[in-house]
Amino acid sequence: MGLPSAAVIGEFDRMWDDLHPVGRVASTGGYRRFALTGEDHTLHEWFAEQSVRRGLDLTSDRMGNQWAWWGNPDEAPGQGVVIGSHLDSVPDGGAYDGPLGVVSAFAVIDALREQGFAPDRPLGVVNFVDEEGARFGVACAGSRVITGALDADRARGLADVDGVTMAEALRAAGRDPHEIGRDDETLRRVGCFVELHVEQGRALADLDPETSAVAIGTNIWPHGRWRIDLPGMANHAGTTRLEDRQDATLLAAELVLAARAEAQRHATVATVGKLRLEPGGVNAIASHATVWLDSRGPVEADVRATVAALSDETAQRGGTIVEESWTPTTAFDAGLVSQLRQVLGDEVPLLGTGAGHDAGILATAGVPTAMLFVRNPTGVSHSPEEFAEQDDCHRGVAALTKVVQDLAAGAGSSPDQAGPS
Ligand code: GLV
Ligand code: MN
Ligand code: MN
Repeated sequence: MGLPSAAVIGEFDRMWDDLHPVGRVASTGGYRRFALTGEDHTLHEWFAEQSVRRGLDLTSDRMGNQWAWWGNPDEAPGQGVVIGSHLDSVPDGGAYDGPLGVVSAFAVIDALREQGFAPDRPLGVVNFVDEEGARFGVACAGSRVITGALDADRARGLADVDGVTMAEALRAAGRDPHEIGRDDETLRRVGCFVELHVEQGRALADLDPETSAVAIGTNIWPHGRWRIDLPGMANHAGTTRLEDRQDATLLAAELVLAARAEAQRHATVATVGKLRLEPGGVNAIASHATVWLDSRGPVEADVRATVAALSDETAQRGGTIVEESWTPTTAFDAGLVSQLRQVLGDEVPLLGTGAGHDAGILATAGVPTAMLFVRNPTGVSHSPEEFAEQDDCHRGVAALTKVVQDLAAGAGSSPDQAGPS
């Protein structure tokens, strides 16, 4: 894969530098960019600025996802070629997951203009809100709400760890919570979506280095999140005999170990990355434990079996389990994937992923969707250690530019479907 021009690289690097300090935690080098916070606001302003710099028409949909258009997507419904990703992060996340796709998308616009390319279809750059669900618990809330996969009433009622609901956070940000909801008008503009993303495993690092800087995404594993509540009784840490205790922490620890064992048994993965103990005193036995479970795997039935076993374990301990989100197996659009292969070459690797993406939500909603992955030499992600070589990021821009050039050159070269039904 070649490199873009020095001017495009310069602009890419400038945008990268702009984003570097936003929400960065000096002590870890990780990012805290959560929905409807000051950092989120700064990132939205940055996106708007980039749109204005390029003379793109900026709109926000009913959920607050930002869309910057080159050309009028309402003149030719279903024809818009959309690229982009998200700018929010997990707690102490890396710099690349999300921002790489947004910065690359603007750099693609620059590269196309530099080449004097005149698109036959409208081109859009999108910034999806709340992809990680770090604050309100449901991943891809931005794309789920506009596609109807997440009911607006449920979204408004989601609460963060301090009990602030999404509705309250929207109001605090000066927005009307009742505006959020399914947005068919926005979706009608999207003919196809190609999300460029940092690779989140290390499959590409083991392949031929000459041909594996960028891969084409084929599918996303089924995955979901569950909340498990376990009962206990608060009591004194010094005076309560071990046999008299009802310790919610012990039940939580048993559940964490059971999650590992059931994942191994069913060939899935299961993670408890967040738990809360109440009342949270060092010298008080926990009266309540909340355990958040994330489970994924290549086969949907195996993920369901993992969670079913953990539901039994939960019930045996007097607890409850509630599904917070579920995303079925996603296969990206076969026509679009083969078009990307034709454009980039058969030697470009194909890659499935265990990570969730807005691309998956749009694909499930019927939008022809595909992804490009930029090699990650260590495979580490959702961590300050997440990394991609600068040259590989630039190669990603070059690949996405070629893809968009092909997709936007004449309506005749669009994939089979023409937008969501
Ligand atoms: C998002 O990155 C996820 O896979 O949870
Ligand atoms: Mn992520
Ligand atoms: Mn992401």
